[in-house]
Amino acid sequence: MKVAQRSDYTFKYNLKLGRHGWLRLTPAYSVKLVTEIIENIPQNSFILDPFSGTATTGLVASEHGLSAHCFDINPFLIWFGNAKCRNYSTNELKNLKLGVGKSMVEWKKIVNENNWLPDIYNISRWWCQHTQKILAALRQAFVNQFGEPKEDNLSSLAWIGFCRLVIETSSAAFNHVSMSFRDKITTFEIEQVESLYQDIINRIVHSAREELSGSGSVHFVDSREVVSINDVEYSHVVTSPPYPNRISYIRELRPYMYWMKFLDTALFAGELDWQAIGGTWGVATSRLKYWEPHEVKLPESLKLVVAQILEKKENNTLLMSNYVWKYFHDMYLHLHSLRSSLKKGAVLYYIVGNSSFYGVQVPTEKILEDSLKSLGFTNIGNKVVRKRNSKKELFEYCVYGTWNSKL
Ligand SMILES: C[S@@+](CC[C@H](N)C(=O)[O-])C[C@H]1O[C@@H](n2cnc3c(N)ncnc32)[C@H](O)[C@@H]1O
Repeated sequence: MKVAQRSDYTFKYNLKLGRHGWLRLTPAYSVKLVTEIIENIPQNSFILDPFSGTATTGLVASEHGLSAHCFDINPFLIWFGNAKCRNYSTNELKNLKLGVGKSMVEWKKIVNENNWLPDIYNISRWWCQHTQKILAALRQAFVNQFGEPKEDNLSSLAWIGFCRLVIETSSAAFNHVSMSFRDKITTFEIEQVESLYQDIINRIVHSAREELSGSGSVHFVDSREVVSINDVEYSHVVTSPPYPNRISYIRELRPYMYWMKFLDTALFAGELDWQAIGGTWGVATSRLKYWEPHEVKLPESLKLVVAQILEKKENNTLLMSNYVWKYFHDMYLHLHSLRSSLKKGAVLYYIVGNSSFYGVQVPTEKILEDSLKSLGFTNIGNKVVRKRNSKKELFEYCVYGTWNSKL
């Protein structure tokens, strides 16, 4: 059977969809895909997304009048997801615009001062010094007006606009699956930045007006140890966990996280990625070499793949086999702990991708199905969603299962 690449089943579909398009994250999944799942979920359901990212599930659920709890370990994504899923009154949005207007006036007065700049490695690769100065002054004007970014605050919209500005004035290019840099860095003048920001904030405010009839919230929870918020028993899990493909969320989120003070050193970026399933940034990679699994009963299909990678005569086979091992080990811990937060009959939908190391196929869908089976889930299966790129063997799947047992 021929499987299509379906860009409508990727983050690209979301970019022009109001709140969903506020900031891009390449590993975000498609609103269309989530909607197709959520449309079939009854109104009184409670959805869990244990790997929230940009809160696509939380927002689609809220837009459809459903309730959702979402988890993540990245503080920036938690803050951002909550801002995306919040309702904003007309009065609040009016006040926001007033605050932004005042900041714009102050901004021009302080542009030549020595304002704070983030300690991003090789910052001049992202913005020239002139643009850095303009952005730093705008940031300071926002801090003076609203304070630093905080949870559940109207000013989040101004800050999200700032994040968008930061990326649009940078030399980051998104022509590939992951981010790269353009050779030429554009210099922006203050008038250009002002009109760009005005345009961004107008679009954000416009989409923030749309009222959400359901409720979605994002919480700091490590999904290897799931807890239920307010003792909710979840009836559905709709999620897209990391894939075992060594893509690090920190890489793409770095500019936002540094400018918003959610990240201040490369060391902390590595620490955060060590907590992330499939994380591979900085210290996370060096720790992998010495990592040893807990005593858990992992599927034979995983052991086979790990052995095949180890057999390859390449420099990093031990590291890569440990990477794959730890990924499925952490996913197993996740599924194991998830069970106590599920309602009887709860249905799971996991959008995952397979991968390949030194030509060895990692059948993510099969290994997750085997893990679900060994943990007592039933009605397990998978459906191919799309082909991931021109490489024939990379696909995205929806792995599903049902929780019908008692622990
Ligand atoms: C593929 S992304 C999810 C994308 C999301 N569906 C969206 O549309 O934006 C996976 C997310 O899982 C989060 N994550 C990784 N390890 C985690 C863990 N141990 N606990 C909770 N979240 C984790 C990452 O920070 C990342 O945001």
